[in-house]
Amino acid sequence: MKIKYLSHSGFLIDDLVVDPFLTGNENAPVKPGDVACRVVCITHDHKDHIGDAFNIAKTNKATVVAVHEIAVEAEKKKLAAEGMNMGGNIEVAGWKIKMIQAVHSSSLGSPAGFVLEKDGKKIYHAGDTALFTSMSFLEADDIDIALLPIGGRYTMDVEDALIAITLIKPKLVIPMHYNTFPEIKVDPNELKDDSPVPVKILKPGQETEV
Ligand code: NI
Ligand code: MN
Repeated sequence: MKIKYLSHSGFLIDDLVVDPFLTGNENAPVKPGDVACRVVCITHDHKDHIGDAFNIAKTNKATVVAVHEIAVEAEKKKLAAEGMNMGGNIEVAGWKIKMIQAVHSSSLGSPAGFVLEKDGKKIYHAGDTALFTSMSFLEADDIDIALLPIGGRYTMDVEDALIAITLIKPKLVIPMHYNTFPEIKVDPNELKDDSPVPVKILKPGQETEV
């Protein structure tokens, strides 16, 4: 399975994209028209996450996966959508997707993270979140890759992400939500140097096989 970092919290994982914020993002290496996918997951409706999600879903005839209230908005725009909520599971286009709480804010519904499962791989995309103790439940899921925010101010910083890693115990961590704006400027090597599990730092546009 290939994971391509689209910058900020955006990832293209095989044929599933999460939080594609490309338009108006100087670091984004691809244009919305270049993203080919079958599923579009949205963690919450802040602009740096919902970004180009609806447009990409439209051009690809992909299914939007999001909290109920965002899914309703997608359906109003005539998009295929699967609404869900915290703790729920769905299956779409060969993916098993579970919605996980996120400690953050949003305008529509609640902010979320996802556990994304396909071909025996489990990926946790934390969305925008603070550290929370029930991240420890994810240990039982045997997460292969955790995508964790480290930029601070609006989310966990490196120090809290390191605690999150000890709770989740993933096999690999990829940091996200840093260096897109001056307010979240962070050296991701600070995470890599202190993490008890391997950390892979991806540059925007970089792809890794997992
Ligand atoms: Ni946010
Ligand atoms: Mn954000």
